[in-house]
Amino acid sequence: MSVRSPLTRHLRNAMLGVVAISGLSILSSGVIAAAAPTTTKAPTSSVTTTSNSKTPTTTSATVTPNLAAKCASLGATAEPGQPIDQSIVAQGQNTSEFNAGTPYSDVKCVNSSGEIVGYGNSAIFYTLPTSNPLSVGEELFLTYCSACHGVKANGVPAGGTTGIYPNLLGLGPATINFWITTGRMPAVDPRGVQAQRRTPRLTDKQANEVAAYINSLQPATAGPYVPNVNLRGANVENGQNLFALNCAACHTITGGGDALAYNTYAPTLHWATPNQIAEALRTGPGNMPRFTGNLTDWQVRDIVAYVSHSIQHPTNIGGVGLGGLGPVAEGFVALALGVGGLMLVTFWVGDRQ
Ligand code: HEC
Ligand code: HEC
Repeated sequence: MSVRSPLTRHLRNAMLGVVAISGLSILSSGVIAAAAPTTTKAPTSSVTTTSNSKTPTTTSATVTPNLAAKCASLGATAEPGQPIDQSIVAQGQNTSEFNAGTPYSDVKCVNSSGEIVGYGNSAIFYTLPTSNPLSVGEELFLTYCSACHGVKANGVPAGGTTGIYPNLLGLGPATINFWITTGRMPAVDPRGVQAQRRTPRLTDKQANEVAAYINSLQPATAGPYVPNVNLRGANVENGQNLFALNCAACHTITGGGDALAYNTYAPTLHWATPNQIAEALRTGPGNMPRFTGNLTDWQVRDIVAYVSHSIQHPTNIGGVGLGGLGPVAEGFVALALGVGGLMLVTFWVGDRQ
């Protein structure tokens, strides 16, 4: 250890480090800038009305082998669902006798006790979550949820602070599943402000077990079951048009999200899984409207395809992915260049003394 002038030595080492870093940053930003596409690829959509696009009309009352197999895998019998009446679709009305969330189903799966345990079509299949035994879901609920939502899930916790915590009865499995799998619940902020997406505390299996338990309480299910989107055959271009019409006003055309009134916001769409996107549409979390009678399952599938392909994984022709963030990423490159350059100048000035 040299006793002589340690400060100068440290300064000198620090300077060398700065030069190395700024040199690197200049090099890499140069490479990125060279490879970056010059135009940002925000989807420019020609807004067209697409209400009747590609929705297969079910005319016969037979169930396809694929859907029959889904019922069989749930230990249930396949029965024909509700055929689509396009005139009612046009009025935006809900035609479902068995589920308010998903009006247009080609099959319903009925178990031996007459319970509908699944329903859907080739675009989206909805399943009633299970907990074996039900006490597993109950235990999870009492551990993670009842302190706020109450042991009866009615929004009245022990101690009696009402009006803050929503009543969970009758919300339906997809709502419960969405709030748990997106990490919004169990809430970290008990004050009732908009819960944020975060790393989930519970596993997907546990989310279904809690949903099954809450759904077993009275009153019975009003909302949709947990959706599984089949993206095969989806029309991304149609999804883009529908997105521009129905979603961009709040989430912006790039899906980046935006502030709404009363200190709320529409979040970025870059993290939601396909099934969570469908859940959001079918259940309408927070201030988001619930898209039920006005969007068919095929249209929802197309929107999901557009969000999970084009918004979450934009194709950058430039080769080096900048995350599709356009101006932000390019601004950052400029910043890296500028700061790197400034550091060099500073060092040079310092060295001249
Ligand atoms: C610390 C308190 C707290 C805990 C614990 C908690 N919640 Fe919540 N929950 C809230 C608050 C506050 C809201 C309202 C937040 C919002 O609207 O963004 C909420 C909202 C919800 C909603 C949305 C209800 C609706 O009508 O839209 C669901 C569903 C939900 N919670 C389920 C659960 C489940 C399931 C658990 C356990 C895994 C849980 N919560 C644990 C406080 C809590
Ligand atoms: C009126 C504004 C509004 C419209 C229109 C809207 N949303 Fe939302 N959306 C929201 C808000 C607000 C939230 C957050 C709700 C909360 O957390 O309390 C949200 C949440 C979401 C989420 C959850 C994101 C995550 O990672 O957790 C998805 C996915 C989503 N919206 C997709 C859509 C799609 C697709 C459309 C069009 C069909 C749409 N939204 C239309 C306001 C809107």
